[in-house]
Amino acid sequence: MKKFSIVIAGGGSTYTPGIVMTLLKHLDRFPIRQLKLYDNDGARQKVIADACEVILREKAPDINFVATTDPEEGFTDVDFVMAQIRVGKYAMRDKDEKIPLKYGVIGQETCGPGGIAYGLRSIGGVLEIANYMEKYSPNAWMLNYSNPASIVAEATRRLKPNSKILNICDMPVGIQERMAKLAGLNYYNDLEVRYFGLNHFGWWTAVRDKQGNDLMPKIRDYIAEHGYLLPGMNEEPSWKATFGMAKNTFALDPDRFPNTYLQYYLYTKFEAEHMDPNHTRTDEVREGREKFVFSECRRIAKSQSIEGLKFEPDDHSNYIVDLSRAIAYNTHERMLVIVENNGAVANFEPTAMVEVPCIVGANGPERLAMGDIPRFQKGLLEQQVAVEKLAVDAWVEHSYLKLWQALTLSHTVPDAAVAKKILDDLVEANKGFWPELKKDAKVKE
Ligand code: NAD
Ligand code: G6P
Ligand code: MN
Repeated sequence: MKKFSIVIAGGGSTYTPGIVMTLLKHLDRFPIRQLKLYDNDGARQKVIADACEVILREKAPDINFVATTDPEEGFTDVDFVMAQIRVGKYAMRDKDEKIPLKYGVIGQETCGPGGIAYGLRSIGGVLEIANYMEKYSPNAWMLNYSNPASIVAEATRRLKPNSKILNICDMPVGIQERMAKLAGLNYYNDLEVRYFGLNHFGWWTAVRDKQGNDLMPKIRDYIAEHGYLLPGMNEEPSWKATFGMAKNTFALDPDRFPNTYLQYYLYTKFEAEHMDPNHTRTDEVREGREKFVFSECRRIAKSQSIEGLKFEPDDHSNYIVDLSRAIAYNTHERMLVIVENNGAVANFEPTAMVEVPCIVGANGPERLAMGDIPRFQKGLLEQQVAVEKLAVDAWVEHSYLKLWQALTLSHTVPDAAVAKKILDDLVEANKGFWPELKKDAKVKE
């Protein structure tokens, strides 16, 4: 079996230890000879890298481990780039969430004005990673988790059309894991699904087991009553609320199971009113996941031992490793990937980047046809895809006007006046991260 070389771009991410644990767990089916971490913040990455070094030394000493801030060292001789960068880090996520909330608009990492702001920071960072890959390892594949995945995907489609980049999301995986449990199965990939949408904006139209049995009748009553909230799971309050809210989004179309993120578009007012403008999800993540991951890494590095190691494989890391394996071994596994529509959703914009099931093999994903979608979803998707395309237009053209239009059109924003106030604050907060936007002479102050 060929052994692979992988670089994790955004090595300082809170998700890195989980991915490392999954890679180590599956070495028998996906052997690796080299693992590199690359980040542009050497100090942040060092904390994670020092722990990973101990973990690898103990569990797989044959793997060559490298942690670097030098692109040439990071991207030379790799087969896969697993990208998970956050341009502007949590300090900027904090602003993405808190600025819209000042105006009563939801403050969210990937949805609404916050997601658009993050998109305008991410595009340049993700393109930079793709360029490094193409320069130093032109045959490699980039599997990109960096958010906001839909805006990033639209930008890579437009600006890097021939690149081997797959944009992916772990939310459907996490929800499918719950559906599987409700149906008496174990894992997300015990299911075979039909699904359509944009990233963080989609619906399941079929959920079956591997024998082809329809599982929707078995689990729909539970979802109608509880959403995707399962008993006995240890989750943070905001995720609990999110999984529970799915029952309300499901009510709008009881024939299709909704993605959790639809809550921000369909119950916008309720969601905004239930966010604390002084303590948003970023604060929760910093106090929770970031604190846990970094303190555990420091503990391992200090003790130079993996005794009591708390990191474990999870849905998020399983998915990116499963996807790498599907490409590496041409497995033709059916997986959700964000791809150019091109007819997959028949009655929808051909150039939209849609999230649909694909058959994944050595040559990448091949989309499956999801047919026509109903008026309700089509209307919402048309609006949202326009927001995402306008955001990318704004980045490419440095256009203030296009960005104002993007914010105005977002279902999360009440009108153009509020959009403009939020935009002006975001422009100020994102100096140095966004391209400098030009105001068309016709834009009135
Ligand atoms: P994090 O801030 O802990 O980690 C991100 C890392 O990226 C940081 O160490 C930062 O220094 C680094 N970075 C920023 N800009 C960079 C650049 N230009 N080059 C190299 N490194 C750079 O963030 P996190 O919470 O662990 O999340 C990581 C990323 O994964 C985010 O983009 C997040 O939105 C995304 N994510 C996506 C999904 C999905 O479903 N697609 C799921 C989970 C997380
Ligand atoms: C889900 C989504 C990701 C998003 C994450 C946010 O996993 O699929 O796209 O980044 O949630 O989680 P957080 O815990 O950082 O708020
Ligand atoms: Mn996601």
